[in-house]
Amino acid sequence: MNLLIKNGHIIDPSQGIDGVGDLVIENNRIKEISLERKGKDSAEGRASGLQGIRTIDALGLYVLPGLIDMHTHLREPGFEYKETIKTGTMAAVKGGFTSVCAMPNTNPVNDNSSVTDFIIRKAIQEGECTVYPVGAITKGQKGEELAEMGIMYAEGCVAFSDDGRPVMSSLVMRRALEYSKAFNVPIISHCEDLDLSEGGVMNEGLLSVTLGLRGVPPEAEEAMVARDIALVGLTKGRLHIAHVSTAGSVRLLREAKARGIQISAETCPHYFSITEKAVEGYNTNAKVNPPLRGQEDMDSIKKGLKDGTIDVIATDHAPHHRDEKLREFDQAPSGISGLETALSLSLRLVDEGVLTLSQLVEKMAKNPAAILGLDKGTLKPGADADITILDLNKKFMVDSGQFFSKGKNTPFEGWVLKGMPVVTICKGKVHE
Ligand code: DOR
Repeated sequence: MNLLIKNGHIIDPSQGIDGVGDLVIENNRIKEISLERKGKDSAEGRASGLQGIRTIDALGLYVLPGLIDMHTHLREPGFEYKETIKTGTMAAVKGGFTSVCAMPNTNPVNDNSSVTDFIIRKAIQEGECTVYPVGAITKGQKGEELAEMGIMYAEGCVAFSDDGRPVMSSLVMRRALEYSKAFNVPIISHCEDLDLSEGGVMNEGLLSVTLGLRGVPPEAEEAMVARDIALVGLTKGRLHIAHVSTAGSVRLLREAKARGIQISAETCPHYFSITEKAVEGYNTNAKVNPPLRGQEDMDSIKKGLKDGTIDVIATDHAPHHRDEKLREFDQAPSGISGLETALSLSLRLVDEGVLTLSQLVEKMAKNPAAILGLDKGTLKPGADADITILDLNKKFMVDSGQFFSKGKNTPFEGWVLKGMPVVTICKGKVHE
């Protein structure tokens, strides 16, 4: 596919580009970007020589490197009633993502290369965007015995995680960090001390007492963040902290980075958009793990995003069936269907002055690519034509009935959001 995207405001932090210009795609790869506007010698002029070229006029729109979600639950194999690779990637593309990382808590767990191979093949056949499998750290995600990470890496896993569950044993985590150094891929840590969180279904505090629900103290997360920082110091392995939700975790990460510890971290739109108050009325769509926290935590997460303590915004897209979310609060599964609202919710940070648009693109494209070692998240010539075109002024109301995801579980139902992706291009294929 040959394509000219003209007159758009191109933002690509990987090349320091922030200006109006034209972008040419030849054979599904980026050919060139030109910030010169007119004339024969412009990109548009040169592109006119390409065969069968299609033009997209992006006047008034922003042209970004395709977004990468480091943390997606696609549910296939095993939980196809919640989501499939097909529906999950359709949701991704609608949300402006051109690549997603599939977490391993499927059934069977992605803890061996035949499951990895299945995901890769299925994604090639049915996926609307690129899917990178994340392998389990331990067999069956039981936290006891390391999975065959080397073979899974060779098969295509880009990171390892027991997400959904922590690796409780510090020794097993140490070994995982040591082993994964051999292939230079990150271990993604779900930080939760199960002894502290046991039985908890929301943030521990006055509200949990009022609602009569068991709480999870912030320390359940922070104790593990502190342990993992210590283990990075010990092993010099590569560690990425998933779904940061508390002020204390941000503080620990900031201090660790200041001491020169090599560690990265993500948060998710729900942790900077809503607080535990969303749980009031026993709203199971606001039940998520780690739980939504307080105002102070939300403010600290925004500060952590602003000062670079938190490197990535990921969705933790966790679709569940409507019937499961209809159970009573403490029986319902945790998770938010996030792919189709993540970018628009994150754009609120730009409106609030927490991040510039370019910094947002760093957190949703450039940094995930760097952490995962992917040749993505950039509009450099030669890169895959993965592009997100964004209309900053377009408003819409969140209506889960319109989601492509099978998971309708969103606490943002009815919210009016401003700014949304209008065209997503995956390896040259235009979705609009
Ligand atoms: O809320 C969550 N849902 N947190 C997790 O860590 C796992 C996820 C899921 O798989 O449903």
